[in-house]
Amino acid sequence: MRPQGCLSFGRSPRCSLGQDRNGYCRFTRALAPAKIHCNATFSHLFHSLFTVNVADLREILQYVPKFRGKTFVVAIDGLVVESENFSNILLDLAVLRSLNIKVAIVHGASHQIARLAAERGVPISNADGTGIVDAPTLQISIDAAIRLTNEIMEGLSAVDLRAAYANAIIAHPAGILGGVDYEFSGRVERVDFKALNLLLEEGIVPVIPPMGFDGEGRTFRVNSDWVAVEVAEALRASKLIYLAPPTIAETAQELPRQLSISEIEEFLKKRGASHPAGTISKLECAARACRQGVPRVHLLDGSINEALLAEVFSNEGIGTMVYSNEYQQIRRIFKKDVRGVLSLIRQSVKSEELVRRSRTEILEHIEDYWVLEIDKNPTACVALHAYPEARAGELACLYVSKNHENQGYGRKLMKFVENLAKEKGMTHLFALSTQASHYLQQKGGFREAKAEVLPAARREKYEASGRNSKILIKALA
Ligand SMILES: CC(C)(COP(=O)(O)OP(=O)(O)OC[C@H]1O[C@@H](n2cnc3c(N)ncnc32)[C@H](O)[C@@H]1OP(=O)(O)O)[C@@H](O)C(=O)NCCC(=O)NCCS
Repeated sequence: MRPQGCLSFGRSPRCSLGQDRNGYCRFTRALAPAKIHCNATFSHLFHSLFTVNVADLREILQYVPKFRGKTFVVAIDGLVVESENFSNILLDLAVLRSLNIKVAIVHGASHQIARLAAERGVPISNADGTGIVDAPTLQISIDAAIRLTNEIMEGLSAVDLRAAYANAIIAHPAGILGGVDYEFSGRVERVDFKALNLLLEEGIVPVIPPMGFDGEGRTFRVNSDWVAVEVAEALRASKLIYLAPPTIAETAQELPRQLSISEIEEFLKKRGASHPAGTISKLECAARACRQGVPRVHLLDGSINEALLAEVFSNEGIGTMVYSNEYQQIRRIFKKDVRGVLSLIRQSVKSEELVRRSRTEILEHIEDYWVLEIDKNPTACVALHAYPEARAGELACLYVSKNHENQGYGRKLMKFVENLAKEKGMTHLFALSTQASHYLQQKGGFREAKAEVLPAARREKYEASGRNSKILIKALA
């Protein structure tokens, strides 16, 4: 039996964890216990727990205590609510809730507004809440948006989640811009976070439509991307996650998977004009949310099954993430890290890619070792051993965990070691490799050499090892 809620068979090209060899989604399998109150069975639970790859499970579970009690704001585009994948999104939200993550939903409605207007034969002045909203447009917007809120609440109850419509957006009119009155187009003035927090504390998912109200009881149409930013800020959310239609998410795919605020601002300045308004709006909102204190904003394709879980519970994720602080770093290792490094390289030692090192050996040269951390998890490592008498350095213990291969981390670490060696006044680097000599040559600029190039002490050790590794060398300019 395939786990329920897992519809994509075969490895999804955009899913960093994908399926195992039996075709089961590794996320659903690892998180199946969380779905127990939705629809999973006990046999499914036990099956999942005992067959999931331990490394994946570890990667997933490390996030669970980190997010427990935290708030995620999920902004769902109206088109995504109507997509086939929406039922899977509801299951993913149920998983988040069962892990004690508080979830608030903001939704868009421009697609539904445009359709209802067409059905009624009423011309509208603007669908997405960014332009002029005249009285007939407001009426259609209210009808379409509230109907959609209701549909979302129906879906949430179908997965046993309690939900409530929250009119938590206090808005004021956008006013007169460029000499034109924007009428019922609104801007968020503040968010009634007390009301939202009351719901969240009671385990109720607030569903927030793209409408705001002023003190006189008037309704304004507000853009849902903006609403999501303000709600995330007001709730001090750990994450704001935009579930966008494929057309928008795809255009964001050409961006790096992770961007800092300054990188996204640079992108918007230089290349923003060539992208659709929907993408730009979300990227601008992402940068704004980060500037306003939301640590991570994710832009995901809402049509991909389990995109939400894949993004939240893996180091790399599958969408575009904007972050407000450094989340990736290369740092020295400390005594407390040695066990982690040994377990990181264990498999590679077993398959003779890396030489066996004992805890004592690492401790003796601890200042030579570096790890690359993603979200504070050691993901790759490298060492630089110095041979000052030969003004040479050995690049050693280069390893990138399987889940993070082919993303440039190996190259990043080689470059890092190269710069470090230069700073230390070394004139060349060498490396010994049984299975990555092509990699070192093709991606690192090393060339093959004879044992004579090794410093005397290292040559002796090399000959005694019997590993018959290839010797590679690189001159440092
Ligand atoms: C070798 C290793 C460090 C590469 O790390 P990585 O982060 O996946 O590599 P990058 O992302 O920088 O580069 C990926 C590219 O290198 C290629 N590549 C990866 N391993 C390779 C190997 N062993 N031989 C030849 N090419 C290799 C990939 O095919 C990819 O090529 P492309 O860019 O043309 O598509 C990693 O696979 C690893 O840890 N291997 C086991 C340990 C090992 O052998 N270490 C070297 C000891 S000196």
